[in-house]
Amino acid sequence: MNIIVTGGAGFIGSNFIFYLLSHHPEDRVICLDKLTYAGNLETLAPVMEDPRFRFVRADIAEAEAVDRLFEEEKPDIVVNFAAESHVDRSITDPCIFVRTNVMGTQVLMESCRRHGVRRFHQVSTDEVYGDLPLDRPDLFFTEETPLHTSSPYSASKAGADLLVLAYARTFGLPVSITRCSNNYGPYHFPEKLIPLMISRALADQSLPVYGKGENVRDWLYVEDHCAAIDLVMRLGREGEVYNVGGHNERANIDVVRAILHELKKPESLITYVTDRPGHDRRYAIDPTKIHNELGWLPQTTFEDGIRRTIRWYLDNRPWWEHILAGEYRDYYEKMYANR
Ligand code: NAD
Ligand code: TYD
Repeated sequence: MNIIVTGGAGFIGSNFIFYLLSHHPEDRVICLDKLTYAGNLETLAPVMEDPRFRFVRADIAEAEAVDRLFEEEKPDIVVNFAAESHVDRSITDPCIFVRTNVMGTQVLMESCRRHGVRRFHQVSTDEVYGDLPLDRPDLFFTEETPLHTSSPYSASKAGADLLVLAYARTFGLPVSITRCSNNYGPYHFPEKLIPLMISRALADQSLPVYGKGENVRDWLYVEDHCAAIDLVMRLGREGEVYNVGGHNERANIDVVRAILHELKKPESLITYVTDRPGHDRRYAIDPTKIHNELGWLPQTTFEDGIRRTIRWYLDNRPWWEHILAGEYRDYYEKMYANR
C-alpha cells in the first residue's frame, strides 16, 4: 500500500513512520511535511535512504501542492498528523491553528475525494471534549461525550473533526478518527511538559509548573498510540471515532517529581508560575470501544515509558540541544518572561 503520512517530521508522525516501516515491510510511506519549527528532518535521517520512503516538503493547506503529490503517488491511505499542536502557542497566535488544523484538513480531504483514496484517517485529540472536574474520578471521555473545547488549539482540532465527519456523511468519504490522550516518548519537542522538564532538569534550570500543578493528564507512550492508529486506519469501521488512552492519569506535579526522582535532581528546581489561561483541569479517556472492536491495549506502563523516555533524551542529546540552541530559545524567553 501507498500511505501518505502528513506531519511525519514531528513527534508522533515520525514515530508512526518508524512503526509502519518496521511492522509493514510491504508498504511505501510518503511523508508530507511543511517543516515548521516543530518539524525536524534530523529525526527522519534513519529512513531517508530507505527505498520504501519518500519525503516531500509541502503545506497541507496548499491545495495545488497537495493535489500534485496525490496525482503522483495515488495513495491508498492518508493519515493526517500535520497540525499546530501546542496549546500555549495557540493562546499567543490562534490564526495559524485555524489555517493548518482546519483548512489544511479540508484541503487534504478534497484531494482524497478526487483521487479515490480508500481511507482518510484524522489524528485527533481528547482535548476536543474539553475537561473533566478534578473531584469526579468516575467520569471519562467516551466517543459520545459532546465536543466542548477550551483553547484555540482544541477548537481548531474539533473543527477539523466535524469537517471530517461531514465529508463522510455528505460525500461518502471513507474516514476514521482517533482521539488520543497526551503522548510522551522519543522525539517529543522540548516545549511540551515532559521533554521540557527533562531537558531543563538536566541543565539544573528551574522547572515552570503552571498553577499548583494539580491538573491531570492521561499519559500514553507514543508507540502505543502508533499501534492504535495503524489498527484503526486498516481495520476500524468507516465513519467512526475511536478514543485512545491507557487509564494512566497523573497530576502534573507528580509527573515532574517522577522525572526529578529518575534524574536524581532536587525538588527545589520546581517553580510554580502563573497558570495557563483557560487551563483544562483533567483529561481521562475511556478506551473501551477500541479495545472491544480491535483488541487494542497499551503495552507500556508509565514507569517503563518514562524511564525509556529519559534514557532516550540522555542518549540523544544532540537532537534536542540543536533545538534548544535555535529559534526555540527566543520562544522560551518570551513565553515564560514575567510568568
Ligand atoms: P508536532 O507539533 O510535534 O508535529 C507537527 C508536525 O506537523 C511537524 O512536523 C510540522 O512541521 C508539521 N506541520 C505543521 N503545519 C503543517 C502544515 N501546514 N503542512 C504540513 N505539515 C505541517 O505534533 P505532534 O505532537 O506530533 O502531534 C501530531 C498530531 O497528533 C497532531 O494532529 C495533534 O493534534 C495530535 N495529537 C497529539 C497529542 C500529543 O500528546 N502530542 C495527543 C493527541 C493527538
Ligand atoms: P502540554 O505538554 O503543553 O500538553 P497539553 O496542554 O496539550 O496537555 O502540557 C501538559 C500539562 O503540563 C498541562 O496541564 C500544562 C502543564 N505545563 C506546565 O505546568 N508547565 C509547562 O511549562 C508546560 C509546557 C506545561
